[in-house]
Amino acid sequence: MFTTIMKFYFPTFLSVVSFFILSCDIDEDLIEISNIGGEKSELLIPEIIEMEGNEDAIELVMQAGQTEFFEGTFSDTFGYNGHFLGPTLRVYKNQVITLTTKNTIGEPSTIHKHGLHVPGNVDGGPHQPIASGKSRVDVLNINQEASTNWYHPHLMGSNAEQVYKGLAGMMIVEDEKSLSLGLPDEYGLNDIPLIVQDRLFVDGKMTYTSDHRVGYLGNTILVNGTPNAFKKVPIGWVRFRVLNASNARFYNFNFEDNRNFQVIATEGGFLDRPVTVKNLEVWPGERFEIMVNFSNSSSIKFMAISNNRRQSESFEIIEFRPDESISSQGELPTQLNSITPYDASQAENIREFRFNMDGVEGGMMGINGFAMNMKVINERVQKNILERWVISSFDGKHPFHLHGTSFQILSMDGNAVPLHERGWKDVVKVNDEAEILVRFELEADDDDPYMYHCHILEHEDMGMMGQFTVQ
Ligand code: C2O
Ligand code: CU
Ligand code: CU
Repeated sequence: MFTTIMKFYFPTFLSVVSFFILSCDIDEDLIEISNIGGEKSELLIPEIIEMEGNEDAIELVMQAGQTEFFEGTFSDTFGYNGHFLGPTLRVYKNQVITLTTKNTIGEPSTIHKHGLHVPGNVDGGPHQPIASGKSRVDVLNINQEASTNWYHPHLMGSNAEQVYKGLAGMMIVEDEKSLSLGLPDEYGLNDIPLIVQDRLFVDGKMTYTSDHRVGYLGNTILVNGTPNAFKKVPIGWVRFRVLNASNARFYNFNFEDNRNFQVIATEGGFLDRPVTVKNLEVWPGERFEIMVNFSNSSSIKFMAISNNRRQSESFEIIEFRPDESISSQGELPTQLNSITPYDASQAENIREFRFNMDGVEGGMMGINGFAMNMKVINERVQKNILERWVISSFDGKHPFHLHGTSFQILSMDGNAVPLHERGWKDVVKVNDEAEILVRFELEADDDDPYMYHCHILEHEDMGMMGQFTVQ
């Protein structure tokens, strides 16, 4: 009886909630959210695994475990080679690496290489499940610019919860240019990963229930799995690799003193030149590398405003403590890259994608009227052809991500692309409408197609995803 009632009333209730969210303007006053507990703890830095030679092999073991985020309370979590998150893999352009993934978490999963330009058969999408107790071997040919990428599960239907419980890790690609620009490059010292995630803690315990309409939102910020984080930083230029690995939360980052900082890279590589900003929006799945110049001053907080909900929320992300005893080298170059912009007039095909929050066939949410169906190839794309993809939404904001390559943004909501987004991307922010120019060079066939989807993981699980081949 109860189940029936829930089934009947729940969608109605949710529609009312979402109508409310859409029909109200963002409130002026902020809800201040502070992390639980008083003491700050030093930022954890995921172990780095350097892939040095060619044909190097690495094994990641997916584990179930417990993590003590707050003293005395343990949460059930997942990790790669550990309890929460995974090691940072550093690979080099033109390397061939063999990645073995062993699944011991007690349920099936996959390992998707988000941002890597690899063919469909090693991309790790929903068609490449690894049963619990089994391993999978992927040979990855690294053939792209220096960039900050990541790996995470991509199982159909239960992806959100697996990532939430801790399955995510960073994967850095280096190339000749990134090593010769003179940028800070000492991992964990002046080249620092910031994997930002929000989690819901109830009495110190990380919890996940299903409020999937908005996407799951937490009350506590973890950076690299650390709540209430601080990090000692050297004086001078420090480079941060910011990854929004949250399930659903949008962040607009800034410093509490409103200082300038420099954006140097988007998902797929360096921008042509550093772009000065005071705030930076990073949506789920996106990566930006930033450079911050610290002087010998008191500590400074990195903050974020988040507006998933009707009322904006303000978070402290991490506190930086400049420390002159740390020696560090690294400059901010004036020129970083020379990207040849795609010419929109050369696009040989146009595709349109529209996000649907409801009213789709075959599921709860979808794209172009259909929920994701593992048995249906939604789009067939020709290799080495420039295409224009137009992605729109009438129903909230969605980060659109595609697999297999990096693209360039042509327009956002009818406007020119902000300077710091004029680089290689694999996620684009869709408010009303975004246009991208994209060309694929690798193949994905019917058995192992690529995915395009909303990177709000609960939306993805509910069907806001489609599949395409490249041949
Ligand atoms: Cu990070 Cu298809 O996802
Ligand atoms: Cu991806
Ligand atoms: Cu979405």
